[in-house]
Amino acid sequence: MLPAFEWKGEYLLLLDQRLLPWEEKYLELKTLEEVAISIEKMMVRGAPAIGCVAAYGVVLAMKEGKGLEEAIARLSRTRPTAVNLFWALERMRRAAVNIEEAEKEAINIEREDYQANVKMGELGSELIPEAVNVLTHCNAGAIATSGYGTAVGVIRKAWEKGRVKRVYVDETRPYLQGARLTTWEFLKLGIPTTLITDNMAGFFISKGEIGAIVVGADRIAANGDVANKIGTFTLSVLAKEYDIPFFVAAPTSTLDLSISSGAEIPIEERSKDEVLYINGRNIAPLNVDVRHPAFDVSPAENITAIITEKGIAYPPYGESLRKIMEGR
Ligand code: MRU
Repeated sequence: MLPAFEWKGEYLLLLDQRLLPWEEKYLELKTLEEVAISIEKMMVRGAPAIGCVAAYGVVLAMKEGKGLEEAIARLSRTRPTAVNLFWALERMRRAAVNIEEAEKEAINIEREDYQANVKMGELGSELIPEAVNVLTHCNAGAIATSGYGTAVGVIRKAWEKGRVKRVYVDETRPYLQGARLTTWEFLKLGIPTTLITDNMAGFFISKGEIGAIVVGADRIAANGDVANKIGTFTLSVLAKEYDIPFFVAAPTSTLDLSISSGAEIPIEERSKDEVLYINGRNIAPLNVDVRHPAFDVSPAENITAIITEKGIAYPPYGESLRKIMEGR
C-alpha cells in the first residue's frame, strides 16, 4: 500500500489524495504553510493522518526558524473536527524543546499510530461475524492514517481470517472518499469490493445483504457519541433498526473525554462547491442554496462497540471509555 506521507528529514513527502484514483503523485512539502494548506485542501485527510502530518509541519516550521506557538496556531486553524490534530499539536507543544526533540516526537506519533492500527485490526476482526458482507463509509484506510487503517484495518484483518465475504463501500458524497480512495485500497488488497451510492445502503441492509458496518471516527465524546464523515449517522440508524452490529474503530488519540457529548463537537462546514461541482462541472443550477456539513454525530446508543488499540469499549461508554484511558 502506498503511504499517505513519508518523513524525509528535510521535507515531507505527501501523496496528493485529491488525484486518486487517477494519479499516484507525491508532493514535497518543505514549509509550515505548505503543510497547513495540504490539510485544508485535503491533499491529506483522515483524522490520524492529519495529526501525524501536522506534527511534521511543526518540525518544518522550526527548521524555518518559526516559533512553536505560531506553528501550532496556524495548524490548529486548518480543520476543526478531527481531534487527532489538536492531540498531536499538544504533544508537540510539550516535547518540542528543540528541533531534534520535535522530530523525535513527530516520528513517535507516526510509529505509535501505525502500531495502534495493527492492534485495532487484531482486536476488532474478532468482532466481525463469520462469513458476512461488511459495509464501510468514507475512507478509514491506510492513507487516512500512518498506514494499515482503522475501519479498513479491522476489515482487512477479518478478511484474512476468512470472516468477510465482500466489502460494500459507500461512495461518500460529496467528496467521494469511498469511491475514490477506499475502493482503490481494497482492490490493492485483493478484497472483493462492491461500490454503492450512499442512498443504496438502506436497500442492501433491508435485503439482509450486510452483516456488519465498520467505520472510523474523527472525534469521540466521553459518552460515546461519535463524529465521523457525513452520512455515518444515517448508517447508525439503519444498523439499529435492522439489528446489525455497528462498530467504530479509532485509536485513543481520537477520544476527547473533555467533552461530555457529541453536541459539543465542532462540525466543519466546507465549501458549497464540493457539493455543486463534480469533476469541474456543476450538477445543479449555480444559484441554488447549498449546505455542506462535512461530518455528523452518531449517538452512542446506536453503536455496538468502539474498537481502540487499548481495548474494546462497550456501552455504557461513559464508564468503558474512561477505563480504557486509565488503562484499567
Ligand atoms: O474529511 P475527511 O476525509 O478527513 O474525513 C475522514 C473521515 O471521516 C474518516 O472516517 C475518519 O477521519 C477516520 S480515518 C481513519
